[in-house]
Amino acid sequence: MKEDTYILAIESSCDETAAAVVKNGRTVLSNVISSQIALHTLYGGVVPEIASRKHIEKINQVIEEALLEAGMTLEEMTAIAVTYGPGLVGALLVGVAEAKAIAYAAGKPLIGVHHIEGHVSANFIEHPDLEPPFVCLIVSGGHTHLVIVKDYGEFEILGRTRDDAAGEAFDKVARAVGLGYPGGPKIDKAAREGNPDAIDFPRGKIEGSPYDFSFSGLKSCVLNYINHAKMTGEEIRVPDLAASFQHSVVDSLVSRTIAAAREYGYRKVAIAGGVASNSALRAGMKAACRKAGLTLYYPSPIFCTDNAAMIGVAGYYEYMKGNVSGWDLNAVPNLKLGER
Ligand code: KG4
Ligand code: ZN
Repeated sequence: MKEDTYILAIESSCDETAAAVVKNGRTVLSNVISSQIALHTLYGGVVPEIASRKHIEKINQVIEEALLEAGMTLEEMTAIAVTYGPGLVGALLVGVAEAKAIAYAAGKPLIGVHHIEGHVSANFIEHPDLEPPFVCLIVSGGHTHLVIVKDYGEFEILGRTRDDAAGEAFDKVARAVGLGYPGGPKIDKAAREGNPDAIDFPRGKIEGSPYDFSFSGLKSCVLNYINHAKMTGEEIRVPDLAASFQHSVVDSLVSRTIAAAREYGYRKVAIAGGVASNSALRAGMKAACRKAGLTLYYPSPIFCTDNAAMIGVAGYYEYMKGNVSGWDLNAVPNLKLGER
């Protein structure tokens, strides 16, 4: 009988200190997340140095909790996986240094994991039937990619954002209307009371690149709308603005994803990253996939935003391919998708 594989995974690329234990690549035995959101909210966004300091304070405790919750010891782990990029360099370094120390001391293999591969892999946790190939839209605070997942850890990039990431656009618009940080969930909530057709915001397009995204034009339009309303003394209905902005973003994301699945002939579509928990994106994607005869996959919200379980899943598949990292593993803040 095949021996079970247990991965202890660590994630610290942005503002969550997280650790998880994942069995055989698909079963999450524990998923501990210590969020710094409350702290960064005071500053209206993530302050990199504060993030690093908080990670170093919390990381041992979070790892201990992850092992405890899984009811396992470090000795029982098969390997240690860690996010080594992309992300904030000081934040990544805390996780990478920790993982190296643990792996070296315990005599376990070390697996460096790409953060975006982690987000994609979050889809494998609750969908045992999902296997590559499929089309995946990755939408987070720092990234917006439309890819074909050809195999585990193998991607063909069809499109990406030319300017702001989708989550970044949510965060900036939320700040502009005074909703605070993080903007995504706040816009999502405000939009539920609003009319998505109240304001006709544009959909960003890139000539000649049908699968690329652009959100900076939309963001400027929203800011102009707000400034104009302030100057003329018009009332800004935040729910309508939030719903209309969200509608424009969702339209851009859904139309390209469905077009890509059709053009490249894939029947399965997945979404990943923090923005994948957006209720309008989920609803829009569900309706469009049903209409196009495609099967849609998305993770539960807790696996959409940053977590270590997704790193454990991606780490498992890298380990199965023999992709073990050396002791010289370093943080790579601008690591590109498809690079190792
Ligand atoms: O994946 P993630 O946790 O971190 C990165 O890797 O960037 O994504 C965080 C982003 C933030 O921009 C946040 O505003 C956005 O995901 N987000 C949402 C929602 N929940 C989180 N955006 C829209 N709607 C949501 N419900
Ligand atoms: Zn992320």
